[in-house]
Amino acid sequence: MDDLLRAMEEYAALRTIPVIGRDGAALLCATVASARPRAILEIGTAIGYSTLLMAGQAAAGARITTIEIDAERAAAARAFFSRSRHAAAIELLVGDAAAILPGLDGAYDFLFIDAAKAHYLQYLAGAMDKLQPGAVIFADNVYFYGLVTAERPPRRMRTLVKRMRAYLEFVNNDPRFTTTIHPIGDGIAISRFQGDDSHDHT
Ligand SMILES: C[S@@+](CC[C@H](N)C(=O)[O-])C[C@H]1O[C@@H](n2cnc3c(N)ncnc32)[C@H](O)[C@@H]1O
Repeated sequence: MDDLLRAMEEYAALRTIPVIGRDGAALLCATVASARPRAILEIGTAIGYSTLLMAGQAAAGARITTIEIDAERAAAARAFFSRSRHAAAIELLVGDAAAILPGLDGAYDFLFIDAAKAHYLQYLAGAMDKLQPGAVIFADNVYFYGLVTAERPPRRMRTLVKRMRAYLEFVNNDPRFTTTIHPIGDGIAISRFQGDDSHDHT
């Protein structure tokens, strides 16, 4: 497995395909190892590097559904999966996550968001009715190159920055989520979804 992961790191570096960085990968592995999810949903597969990292830490019998829009990257991911002992546990869906999410009927207890930075809130909204109470949401790159906290982000980035801020405001303020933001890599937000019944109905 380690050799396969090293081969994937080289493949990604040669083609400048973004995969999770070393520190983020360590936090992802530790988070999956402690949450022991049985059903993982990943948005943004690239070549499947983080998919296999998670597969290596998940409980025996766990399943992973992963979504990638880029057909060439998805093909590379499929080839790498076939070389791993986790191949049978992984379902790779090729297409736009925004279009695929409504058709998923799984109940997931771990969600890894790592696709288009402007659409994190949209992805979460699309996945929310498929999350089990207690599910963990791991969102990478939430500092958006440090621009999320900038007073005056460059004009061409403003919409993207606004949308990432909206994601963070949502998971920080909605009572169904408890969120911690880790200053690791480009920022990682880990949220726990309490379920839809966590509202105070008094
Ligand atoms: C940062 S990479 C994912 C890296 C991967 N999670 C890892 O760490 O190994 C983001 C990926 O999301 C994909 N992506 C972007 N927009 C998407 C969308 N709307 N639906 C599905 N995948 C998308 C990109 O093609 C890219 O491969």
